Parts: sequence; C-alpha cells; structure tokens
Amino acid sequence: MKLHPVDTGSETLRLMNNSDQSILSWKGIIHQYSRYLPVKSEDAVISLNEGNTPLIRADNFAKSIGGDFEIWLKFEGLNPTCSFKDRGMTVAVSAAVQKGAETVVCASTGNTSASAAAYAARAGISCTVILPHGKIAQGKLAQALMYGATVIAVEGNFDQALQIVRELGSIDKVEVVNSINPLRIEGQKTAAFEICDTLQRAPDYHFLPVGNAGNITAYWRGFKDYFSIQKTDRLPAMFGFQAAGAAPIVNGEPVANPETVATAIRIGNPASWQGANTALQESKGFIDKVEDEEIIHAYKLVAKTEGLFVEPASAAPLAGLIRCAKENRIPSGSVITASMTGHGLKDPDTAINNAGFSPIVIKPELDEVLKTMGL
Ligand code: F0G
Repeated sequence: MKLHPVDTGSETLRLMNNSDQSILSWKGIIHQYSRYLPVKSEDAVISLNEGNTPLIRADNFAKSIGGDFEIWLKFEGLNPTCSFKDRGMTVAVSAAVQKGAETVVCASTGNTSASAAAYAARAGISCTVILPHGKIAQGKLAQALMYGATVIAVEGNFDQALQIVRELGSIDKVEVVNSINPLRIEGQKTAAFEICDTLQRAPDYHFLPVGNAGNITAYWRGFKDYFSIQKTDRLPAMFGFQAAGAAPIVNGEPVANPETVATAIRIGNPASWQGANTALQESKGFIDKVEDEEIIHAYKLVAKTEGLFVEPASAAPLAGLIRCAKENRIPSGSVITASMTGHGLKDPDTAINNAGFSPIVIKPELDEVLKTMGL
C-alpha cells in the first residue's frame, strides 16, 4: 500500500490516514465512517458520494491578513450539491427511505433545499421545500427546481417556514430533513473527522458560520468523537460567526426580522441554539457577529488571494478571522481550520454586484486587446 505525503508546510511530512484504495473508491460518508454513524453501509444507502472534500492550506490569505498561523480551508462547496448539507442529507434520507417515508420536507435558506431535493430525486421519493420568498440565491433555487422538488415560497422568513415544517412532521410517511432531525447532525460531523484524518491531528481553532446552528453542533460532536477514542490528542476551540443583522446567539435573544447579504445565515431563531451554546462552552470557544461589509471584504479577499470562490455565508468566519488577527486573539503558530460551507457559484448575483467592475467590451482585434492589457 502506498501512502500519499501531504505537504503541511510547517512540518516535514504527515501521512494520510486513508489508504489509496479508500480514496480511489470513495463511496460517500456513510461508507467511509459507518462505524461512527447510526446508518450502516450494509443498509440501503442513498448517496451521491458526498464528502472527501479538499482541505486547502491558505498561506496567501493568512499573509494578507497579517496572520502568523496556519489556515486550512475545508472546501465544502465541492460536495455534490455544492454545500456541506449533503453530509447530513445522505444519512437523513437513507433513514427516511428505510422507514418507508414517501416525502421529505424542509424549510431552507437555500442549501438544505438543494440537497434535500437531490437526495430525494436519487431515492425516487418526493420532496417539498419551503423557502423565504425572494431571499434565496439563484443557484440554490435553480437546483431545487431542477431536482424536481415542489418549491413553495412563503412571504416570510426562514424561522416562520421552519415552524410550518415542524408541524408537517407529524403527517404519516412525511420526514422532516432540517437539522432538527438528529441524523443530519450525525452526518455533518464527518467533516470534522476528515479534517483530523487529513491533518493527522485536531486543529487548535475551528472557525465556521452560524445560522440555524446545526453545523457548529455537528462539528463539535465530530471533534469530540475522535478525541474520545484517542484518534486526536486535543479539542479545538470553536469560533462561530453570525451576520450582524442576524445574530440572535451573539445578542442573546431572537431577531424578529433578520437581514444580511449572506442569505444562507439569515436566521433569527436558530433551532440548535442549545447545541451551539454547548459547543462554545465546552470548547472554550467564542461567538461574534460580523458586518455585511466585512463579509463582502473577506469574500473578495479569499477569491483573489487563494482562487477560492465561496458563498457569502462562508466568508463570515473569514471576516471573523481577519478581526481576530487584528486583535491578536490567535497565538502565533496556531493551526486554524475553517468551514467554507458553500460554493460561490450558488450566488452569482452577489458576486457580480460586488466584483467592482464589468467585462471590458472592445472590438475583436489584437491591437485593442494589447492596448487594454497595457502592453
Ligand atoms: N453556510 C451555508 C452556506 C449555509 O447554507 C448554512 C445554513 C450555514 C452556513 C449555517 O449552518 O444553519 O448549520 O448553522 N443553511 C441552512 C439552509 C439554514 O437552509 O440551507 P447552520
């Protein structure tokens, strides 16, 4: 068996945990991490080979923010529906099918609906998604429509949509696949496993965006699972970031009308509030809010310095990291990981509106091109 060397920069070589074989025949997170999950690989699994996303070292970004530490970005935008939701959805939809569900439902700011619709399509069952009207990024809406979901837009916000979905859950053969379904959290914790498998250790800090707070709950569980079986020798401090206009956990009270450019985390009353509190307390972590301007700045900076196009919500922890670097909150030499939860292509409107320029239109002539290039 050959092992892949991984260039970690600060140390010579660390070796990957996974054998060549498991990487070449990657069959999704249930297959890979079955022993830590309630759904087993022998069961009928609904999978799109999710997981195994790259952990990308971001030295340029670190340098540009004056950070004297390692930053590793877990690019969850490279999951099958381009967000981290697929990890939880494979577990939730597999279990739903096993117990005879014929329909899955969810409320969503976009990504959960795209993922639920895709996994339902794969399973051959129906899917209904309830979305806040006019507040869903174009790419996410396109996905839910293409995968064949019934798309209902309510004149209200995510929190109101989730309230309706909670009530639909009591109907026979209907399964709720929001993160109030504990199987979603179980699947999502595998991102923490992959980070530790790749680094061959747990990070010192893990940064992530917080909306409904399922993911911070899930990552913390994953880091704790590995620590409890001594696969890792430490636990990271969890650093969560909410958008300033949608920061109920930071403010300590629900927000009736949440607003932010990062529509994925436009949530005023998170379902997993308690899970977030536990993660923050147990890990001696930290939660803060970042302004939309800071989110957009970080969103552009990571694209320009690293070639990584993430959606605005994913830039919230990067905005937080910029602040932490300024305030000297992170000891030098620390190993930081951050969840880049969704792909930038999901929200082309925000990208085009914030790029700061439009294509330069010229005649199709070499001279014109050279002149424009300044050559
Ligand atoms: N980042 C992205 C891209 C998201 O889509 C979400 C949540 C989050 C971060 C926050 O994660 O809710 O577990 O704290 N999106 C949900 C949805 C709410 O409906 O797609 P969280």
